[in-house]
Amino acid sequence: MESTKKGGKLDKYTFSMHNARMSYAQQVHISSKVCFVQAYAKINLALDVLGRRTDGYHELATVMQTIDLHDTICLTATDDNRVHMICTTPELSNDENLAARAAYLVRERLACTQGVRIELYKRIPTTAGLGGGSSDAAAVLLALDQWWQLQLSPSDLLNMAASLGSDVPFFLIGGLALCEGRGERVTPLACYWPSSMRWLRLLKPAISVSTKAVFRNLPASDYTDGTHSRAASTALNASQIPDVNHLHNGLERGVLERYPEIAAAREDLLKAGARFVRLSGSGPTLFAPFAELARAFQVQQQLQAQGYEVYLSRAINPNAGSVCFF
Ligand code: C5P
Repeated sequence: MESTKKGGKLDKYTFSMHNARMSYAQQVHISSKVCFVQAYAKINLALDVLGRRTDGYHELATVMQTIDLHDTICLTATDDNRVHMICTTPELSNDENLAARAAYLVRERLACTQGVRIELYKRIPTTAGLGGGSSDAAAVLLALDQWWQLQLSPSDLLNMAASLGSDVPFFLIGGLALCEGRGERVTPLACYWPSSMRWLRLLKPAISVSTKAVFRNLPASDYTDGTHSRAASTALNASQIPDVNHLHNGLERGVLERYPEIAAAREDLLKAGARFVRLSGSGPTLFAPFAELARAFQVQQQLQAQGYEVYLSRAINPNAGSVCFF
């Protein structure tokens, strides 16, 4: 990290009332009291589980795309040297929230005591397979880097993101990407999204699924060699529609078998008119692409009448970390 170099620069403009060692980090330069950032959800277009690793994680190859369903985060500078986490989902208003952990991590790495209040307006359903918590954490890392003018290097940000969760590095970049390893090796793909998938109908069954349990219960017979994600990536990179057989999720079979509610929701989506339905990540959220809004909307009305929690979204390539200051 470049803290020593910038420490000198910033120390010229700030002074400490204390005897403590003064680093640039303890005296972060904040030009504004408030900053807003949006955190987008993702879907997995393809997901291969290659096998179990010695560290307990699984080796993956997955194609992820950010979608316009998003949380909104407001960061406010405080004078009390603390991190306060306030979330519209009350059970997430605590220091375990990945967004709070991201702020603690930045402060710890840079020996920084700047206080911050994190207000999180949650729209992305939680433990849904849509990466909401990971996206919130990446958004906080990117926002603090810009807002506190930390100029963290890409590898600093990547290491911090990977230490918070396997999906967090993807959200530093967003858009369409092939993610490998534990998920932290992110290769951005050309911004191409098939018009046949213009509208994404999401259905979140009313159950929670533990990612840990899904991976733990995955039999080796569901492992694949990465062919699906690589083929989907190659096609998309060449602005071609991937073969539907490659839009494969290696976690789906086991999840549908273990959770009949998700299998029933999948059937209802198909009955309502979806031609193609996939699980996102470890679920429980299912997505169905549509070329036309009218058709997607018709399906929504039918599913809502059946009492399902549904969302209409689309692929989006946000400027990762586009932060708004006040
Ligand atoms: O990295 P993260 O904390 O998001 O992962 C949640 C859980 O999912 C891990 O504790 C692990 O059990 C499982 N996982 C895995 N292999 C991956 C990613 C996640 O086994 N590549």
